Amino acid sequence: MIAERPLLEVNGLKKHFPIRGGWLGGITANVYAVDGVTFDINRGETLSLVGESGCGKSTVGKAILRLFKLTDGEVYLAGERIDTMRAGRLRMMRKRVQVVFQDPFSSLNPRMRVRDIVAEPLINFGMAHGRKDLNDKVAALMEKVRLPRDAIDRFPHEFSGGQRQRIGIARALAPGADLIVCDEAVSALDVSVKAQIVNLLADLQDELGLALLFISHDLATVEHLTHRVAVMYLGKIVELADRRTLFATPHHPYTRALLSAVPVPDPTAKRQRIILKGDVPSPIDPPSGCRFHTRCPFVFDRCRTEEPALRPVGDKHLSACHLDEVPGDKLLPHAA
Ligand SMILES: Nc1ncnc2c1ncn2[C@@H]1O[C@H](COP(=O)(O)OP(=O)(O)OP(=O)(O)O)[C@@H](O)[C@H]1O
Ligand SMILES: [Mg+2]
Repeated sequence: MIAERPLLEVNGLKKHFPIRGGWLGGITANVYAVDGVTFDINRGETLSLVGESGCGKSTVGKAILRLFKLTDGEVYLAGERIDTMRAGRLRMMRKRVQVVFQDPFSSLNPRMRVRDIVAEPLINFGMAHGRKDLNDKVAALMEKVRLPRDAIDRFPHEFSGGQRQRIGIARALAPGADLIVCDEAVSALDVSVKAQIVNLLADLQDELGLALLFISHDLATVEHLTHRVAVMYLGKIVELADRRTLFATPHHPYTRALLSAVPVPDPTAKRQRIILKGDVPSPIDPPSGCRFHTRCPFVFDRCRTEEPALRPVGDKHLSACHLDEVPGDKLLPHAA
């Protein structure tokens, strides 16, 4: 039997944004926003992409949504290459990959009623057959995201942040997507509302077999919903593992630093606090060798010159660090 390919495969993805300047408006530099990222997502799986602001998470999401041309790399959906796909087929692909953004205020048209917001993708993709069918499909979507039926006659501003996010999810579900990119979809919500939306996404995933690329700047948000986690730093994935492994035995010093800031509910389980020095360097001129070396508490000579590859450090556990021969519990930072 041939093993099924993952739903999404991203190979060596690069996206560099040129910066123009000078007299003639030529390219003076590049923003190395995403610089060689490889991962996959299976059907019905949630992969979280986590890292500080500006590390390239949204750029990865936009590349998958084909909002621009890649600098390099390949993206496959259900085995079909989509980054070079032509317009006709691309329309079909767009049905299958949808997005939910952080700020439903800016992503939902304030002048449209909820009915029309949810109906729009059904109409655009030719998925409704007559008025009654359209109304039935909109009503079914409202039920799926647990919004009251009478909500369809109201406008987005009449809803709370969480309810607006449900409208955004209904819209993303409308064309029958296999994969939803959630870009900071719950980051702006209060803790209890955040949990409700996370639970809704998990239920929809079970019910519909959806795959989710869940983008978040903080690890705490993804702990209870994700299957696997990819940690990004300055345009690269530095660690990738299933949730349990990543939270219990993080390997990369950057992941360990991020995790040490996440509160632990069990007071007896202490995590060693690692405080990072300085800010994230600029993606216009990333550091040589390991990009994390300027902030790493464990830095040694090799890190400054040689870039570490993302390689296995355990079962389905990848990390890009020159310390990878040293067991995780033996890693201690340099004395301050
Ligand atoms: N269109 C663009 N032109 C130039 N630079 C860009 C463009 N889009 C993004 N960038 C830069 O690329 C880098 C990565 O941006 P990106 O939005 O992917 O980060 P992010 O991880 O999503 O951050 P955040 O957590 O703040 O959303 C940043 O330095 C950003 O300024
Ligand atoms: Mg972003």
